[in-house]
Amino acid sequence: MRDAVVYYSNTGQSKAVADYLADRLGYPLADLQESGEVQYENLVLVFPVHCQNLPDCVKDFLKKAQVERLTAIATFGKMCCGNVLYEIQRHYQPNVIAGAYLPTKHSYIKADDAFCDFDELEPIIDKIRQPFSIVRLPKLYKNPFSNLYPKLRSRLGVALRKTADCNGCNLCRAACPLGAISSGVPDGRCIRCLKCVDACPRKALQVRPGWPLKLYLRKKKDSKLRIYV
Ligand SMILES: Cc1cc2nc3c(=O)[nH]c(=O)nc-3n(C[C@H](O)[C@H](O)[C@H](O)COP(=O)(O)O)c2cc1C
Repeated sequence: MRDAVVYYSNTGQSKAVADYLADRLGYPLADLQESGEVQYENLVLVFPVHCQNLPDCVKDFLKKAQVERLTAIATFGKMCCGNVLYEIQRHYQPNVIAGAYLPTKHSYIKADDAFCDFDELEPIIDKIRQPFSIVRLPKLYKNPFSNLYPKLRSRLGVALRKTADCNGCNLCRAACPLGAISSGVPDGRCIRCLKCVDACPRKALQVRPGWPLKLYLRKKKDSKLRIYV
């Protein structure tokens, strides 16, 4: 059993937060997809909100993890953070001592201002260092349609195509959390998390949001950092 900051990140936003927290706390940093560890004394878990839900691999991890004290940080692209922290405490890990919804750049918006000031996470760091006490996470608004084929909606909303620069090296496949792409061609399991786009050394994958998604992304932004300690 040990202390760690574990992250799941597709476009680097959650990883940047995890890097900062690991540095401040002096905890080792681990990628959820590479870490085989399941037992933790203090676990800080950082992950993105996907379609107002927990990503599947985060759910799988939370199902098998044995955690004495969990701090959960959900990064979101200023659209809607859903209710993922409440869901974690209710369905997976009751021992949550702190949590935050942290607004970041949206994976599908190129030009966007980056993070809130990381210094604002100080109450979280303080809470982790204090004696154990559970925090009650509130139930927030979640669009009732968010559970309706979220992966299919992502796939329909964002076109992902390989360009002539692809040399078939398949680093995209190695990076994909679902193994849902081969030589630059995504299959029906792809959720457009864009990890492959970041992983491609030749920048050979092109992302184009469709017009319904573009309209959705023009909605009023929610830039509020919510901290629970
Ligand atoms: C498939 C997918 C679904 C997303 N759904 C939401 C959402 O419902 N609400 C939101 O505010 N941001 C959403 N985002 C944006 C990410 O939550 C946000 O950009 C996050 O910081 C990305 O973290 P990462 O770079 O660590 O992967 C979504 C991004 C992806 C790729």
